[in-house]
Amino acid sequence: GVLAGAGAALAGKHVVITAGGTREPLDPVRFLGNRSSGKQGVALAHAALARGATVTLIAANLEVAPPTEVELRAVGSALELEVAVTAAAAVADVVIMAAAVADYRPVAARADKIKKDETGGTMLLELTRNPDILAGLARTKRSGQVLIGFAAETETDSVRLLELGREKMARKGCDFLVVNRVGWAEGFASDRNAITVLDHGGDIVCEASGSKLSVAGRILDLIT
Ligand code: CTP
Ligand code: CA
Repeated sequence: GVLAGAGAALAGKHVVITAGGTREPLDPVRFLGNRSSGKQGVALAHAALARGATVTLIAANLEVAPPTEVELRAVGSALELEVAVTAAAAVADVVIMAAAVADYRPVAARADKIKKDETGGTMLLELTRNPDILAGLARTKRSGQVLIGFAAETETDSVRLLELGREKMARKGCDFLVVNRVGWAEGFASDRNAITVLDHGGDIVCEASGSKLSVAGRILDLIT
């Protein structure tokens, strides 16, 4: 099986994984969110534990139960995730940014519920850009730390998908970028995944498809 035979390749290593999707509050009862289920990040946590790692899971609104053996930090918004992962990264050997982080958040969360009659038949929301957490982690990376990002893309052309991945790698500066296609029917809610992993220079170092647990194992194989 996937877990059997994994041995203790990550014994003594501290692996930090972000999983799920951030929710950006609009008011006390509403948020802007995304469709990330957290399944791939939780599968990475299971796979890292099976290899003997100490795992910190930074969980943003997971739809699946995390393993009980992780050190769990629950977060809601992108800014909360940034605080938690930056602190955890300071003592991590490996950081994996599997979470879907909102690119924008409402300029300010309202203290009271927004009433529909405040506005007419249309409504404008003012949003502000969230920090790029992965790029920030790359800038402050400890020597020897391995930093892995994800790139979820809806591009259907596989050549263009790789181009997008290489452009994203250049912006992020992480060690590995896991590129995967997402759409209405694939990626987020699915129990399966298909990935292409790029190294820092943009070369393909792994192509894998299968269960999210088996894909997690292939990603962890990249860590020596
Ligand atoms: N990410 C992050 N901080 C953000 C946005 C994304 O750390 N504010 C991380 C994600 O966790 C993921 C990687 O960056 O590991 C790529 O996320 P993605 O949304 O694919 O890339 P973006 O740079 O946000 O580009 P775009 O959404 O425009 O494709
Ligand atoms: Ca994004």
